[in-house]
Amino acid sequence: MHLIHLPQTAQQAHVVYQWFIEHANDWATTLVLVEQSQTPTARELRQNPELCLIYDEQGLWLAVNGMKMQPDWVGELPRLYRAGIRNELLARACMVTSTARIIDATAGLGHDALLLAWLGANVTLVERHPILAALLMDAKIQAARHTDERLQQALARMSVVFAKSEAYLIDSAIQNETDVVYLDPMFPKAPTEKKQPLVKKEMQILQYLLSMSRSDDSVIDWGDALLPLAMNVANRVIVKRPRHANPLAGIEPAHRWLGDACRFDGYFQHHASDSTAKQDVVL
Ligand SMILES: C[S@@+](CC[C@H](N)C(=O)[O-])C[C@H]1O[C@@H](n2cnc3c(N)ncnc32)[C@H](O)[C@@H]1O
Repeated sequence: MHLIHLPQTAQQAHVVYQWFIEHANDWATTLVLVEQSQTPTARELRQNPELCLIYDEQGLWLAVNGMKMQPDWVGELPRLYRAGIRNELLARACMVTSTARIIDATAGLGHDALLLAWLGANVTLVERHPILAALLMDAKIQAARHTDERLQQALARMSVVFAKSEAYLIDSAIQNETDVVYLDPMFPKAPTEKKQPLVKKEMQILQYLLSMSRSDDSVIDWGDALLPLAMNVANRVIVKRPRHANPLAGIEPAHRWLGDACRFDGYFQHHASDSTAKQDVVL
């Protein structure tokens, strides 16, 4: 896999390369640093559709099938400025406060975690795919260059961990320091005879990456095993599901928050009569 960089981003690309050597050597052995004078154009990406990483002035990108993407945390700012604890279902479900300690055990591109941190929570983003973990770490570096004060405060409440959440949750259960575990695992596509909703470019690339059968790290994980582990760690576990999907692991939630396309399922270990949860129930 090529890691394409510009002359002026050679040093940053080298740091990424070194990170792969130290943390994901099976990927590092196929990684080749390639210097180019310009970032690849859309046409060049279409002509070279295989998976590659690009480090340009805007940071680290993942490119495949003629498309490229990166977690765009700065691009989320307009949405973040409109977001509030009352108007964001995720924030209501997680009962975000300035003292909440949340584990996002399926971090992906970190957009949900950023929203939770923006609204005041301390969020640990756990991601098991090395490419996504590298993209997340770089997203934090890129966002830290922005001048927005509130964004900087949110970033200070976010830490990215490259790990399998199964192991991370088992360790966290011993420490007993987590208020909420949030899970947003990939879900199987709807049957093909039904019309498929348009999937955002980022999600298409994510789905492609995770479906590549390359070692255990990128086999699609529907997340069922995570729910019982999460319930051991925190009194509150929130799971994002497509609106009409079966509950994760077949375990019925205590409460559901319904959105247009998705819903949040809540599992409460010791607080089944949680009053905030009850106010929000829409079944
Ligand atoms: C649908 S994405 C999450 C999207 C995320 N909520 C966001 O806002 O961008 C699911 C992510 O969970 C990760 N994942 C799945 N199982 C995992 C596990 N056992 N441990 C850590 N990460 C996992 C996948 O690699 C994928 O990146």
